[in-house]
Amino acid sequence: MSSAPSCVDRPVSADRSLLAVVGADLDVPLVTGGTHRFVHLDYAASAPALCSVVEAVQQHLPWYSSVHRGAGFTSAVSSEALESARADIRVFVGGRADDVVVFTRNTTDALNLLASVIPPDTTVLTLDIEHHANLLPWRQATVRHLPTPATADEIPAVFRAALADIQTAHTLIAITGATNVTGEVLPIADIVDVARQYGARVAVDAAQLAPHRAIDIDALGVDYVVFSGHKLYAPFGAGVLVGRPDWLDLADPYLAGGGAVGNVSIEHAEWLLSPARHEGGTPNLLGAIAIAAACRALIDVGTTAIQQHDHALTAHLDRRLAAIDGVQVVTVFDGEHDRIGIATLALPQPAAVVAAALSAEHGIGTRDGAFCAHPLMRRLFGQTPLGPVPNALRVSFGVGSTVADLDDFADALTSILSDGPQWTYALERGRLVPSPDPRPRPVSA
Ligand SMILES: Cc1ncc(COP(=O)(O)O)c(C=O)c1O
Repeated sequence: MSSAPSCVDRPVSADRSLLAVVGADLDVPLVTGGTHRFVHLDYAASAPALCSVVEAVQQHLPWYSSVHRGAGFTSAVSSEALESARADIRVFVGGRADDVVVFTRNTTDALNLLASVIPPDTTVLTLDIEHHANLLPWRQATVRHLPTPATADEIPAVFRAALADIQTAHTLIAITGATNVTGEVLPIADIVDVARQYGARVAVDAAQLAPHRAIDIDALGVDYVVFSGHKLYAPFGAGVLVGRPDWLDLADPYLAGGGAVGNVSIEHAEWLLSPARHEGGTPNLLGAIAIAAACRALIDVGTTAIQQHDHALTAHLDRRLAAIDGVQVVTVFDGEHDRIGIATLALPQPAAVVAAALSAEHGIGTRDGAFCAHPLMRRLFGQTPLGPVPNALRVSFGVGSTVADLDDFADALTSILSDGPQWTYALERGRLVPSPDPRPRPVSA
């Protein structure tokens, strides 16, 4: 495996990847025979690992041992590695000195943790365009899902109107940094400004934002940020919640068990403060090391370079798609708006068929479905709130992507839309799959 190139001083070009990712040279079998270089355009679901992330994990493996428990030297080293991973992640999100970094399984887990620690008299405000992970955990609380306006500039006023009306002692605005369906970036700084005027806290779901844009929670005045390692080029099963310690330290432990507690009797437990309080059981050390390595790599390459790469690829994709009849990139907001490397497409043919043919006949991995954002998808595709859930095609990309990936995709999409699929497909457990499927599987499967 090649090591990650040093990209710091190199001019950004969308013709090449910004950072080296594992699997960039992978060939996948096609149903029609032969193989094709795998074109990974599903980064928003799970991004490939950075080579530097895998190297960091491999480097630590010989030293892997129990954390905060063992007496051996490798345990001491592993415990230090976990704490130094917290420190790197805090730097990545611009955390305050007293912000806590709690390791979780993923963003969903981190938002459920936050939902479990909010004081009882809290009103939670979200927009109605959120991913299910930022809708469903709040159902235990007093929650209002506000209607998203037609332009992003109007969002702060929507929150202002809602905040003026709140009777509870605490308010938490829980908002996505960038939507996972359209990639549009939300005006977090302006929302925080309004929140501050009303003493409300702000939690940012940065599952999509963190791999693409700088987040400085201290400078922004954001109280909590959550994201997943597997979307940040660190697919080793960990995520994080970073933020203010007070609510975390007052609440019951999220995962009660060893490691979260000091003295235990049959009747009583002295719970530790966070992060340990919410991290019962053996932590995912390799997941933590992986996220920290990804954070360091993204800091090194620089958010300006990441954003430029993103913008160049997005502009290229939009140009190519504009030339294909009947294809439309859907957006929440009217007019020009900053977008990360995500595009969801309205197509003249069923998205499930197109996605299946892209994969089986062209070696291109996209995603079709409703992207765990049913309310937003209904809005984008003109359905009523309880109408059927639309199905669309999403392409998403990041630091390992190139113009050639998008050209392969646009060429394949053009050919599928004009000539139809060249294979037969059948529904299997809710997904359209090639039938028959002659593609050999790798041993790992
Ligand atoms: C905006 C957003 N929030 C939350 C999630 C949930 O992330 P995870 O599945 O890693 O918990 C996703 C996943 O796609 C997402 O895009």
